[in-house]
Amino acid sequence: MIDDPNLIVGLKSFDDAGVYKLSDELALVQTIDFFTPIVDDPYTFGQIAAANALSDVYAMGGTPLTAMNVVCFPTQTMDVTVLREILRGGLDKMREAKVTLVGGHSVEDSELKYGLSVTGVIHPKKIITNAGAKPGDRLILTKPLGTGIINTAIKAKTASPEALSKVTKVMTALNRDASELMQVIGVNSCTDITGFGFIGHACEMIEASDVGMILTSSSIPFLSEAEEYAKMGLVPGGTNRNKKFRIKQIELDPSLSPELIDILFDPQTSGGLLISTPQEKSLMLLDQIRKKGMEEASIVGEIVSEPKGKIVVKK
Ligand code: CO
Ligand code: CO
Ligand code: CO
Repeated sequence: MIDDPNLIVGLKSFDDAGVYKLSDELALVQTIDFFTPIVDDPYTFGQIAAANALSDVYAMGGTPLTAMNVVCFPTQTMDVTVLREILRGGLDKMREAKVTLVGGHSVEDSELKYGLSVTGVIHPKKIITNAGAKPGDRLILTKPLGTGIINTAIKAKTASPEALSKVTKVMTALNRDASELMQVIGVNSCTDITGFGFIGHACEMIEASDVGMILTSSSIPFLSEAEEYAKMGLVPGGTNRNKKFRIKQIELDPSLSPELIDILFDPQTSGGLLISTPQEKSLMLLDQIRKKGMEEASIVGEIVSEPKGKIVVKK
């Protein structure tokens, strides 16, 4: 039940994963995520789905240990080799993450879906929630935005080979290294950027932390093709839903282009971490994250006490 005292992070705080205390030294981190294919190549899709599911454990500062496959597959209409490739992609990503596959479940479904249920561990005193951001903190975003728009262009057969390869690299990349670094260096808050878009997940952070946020749009990394495709109207439906839901909490500089605004609300698949870190640690953390290959990681703004519950997006 919700009032179980060992449930340290539950449904109420809209955090990335649930955390359940087993002892004073050990808690479980649990999460599940699965979705329909976003790229044509089944092996790549398997990798993306696994990286995406693991991300919620990394966002809490946890270490994923085991995973279970969640599969919906149209056995009547699709060749089973497709499923085999998806599972191989997922398994390779789990190997990279040093996560053990312990089982899974599959059902017949007219629409293919794949993902993982992931279990990790964490010290109960070292949980990095979305509720710890403090005024003065700097905000680091570890991956470029725009995956939703580019995935829409892929579906419309409009994406260039370069855009496809860039977005694949972004979505298959584990958030593990950034997570390990933030645990070592010490940060106040973290969440990962997924379906609600950058602004949506940033809003969850300021609401849970009871603070406000100022973003500098020129420092927010995004895949350059996303701007181009947004101009062509290749914007997923989720972008507008995200916008509608959060627009009242946002103050946008009037000079921002409509394309950039779309990118800020764009639903992400296997997006980066948004880390709120004390200012004196921010440059070191950024530097180390970049050295791990997340070269587009950037300091995108800061946490403020006022205006509370709002995000101001400057030029
Ligand atoms: Co999440
Ligand atoms: Co999730
Ligand atoms: Co079963």
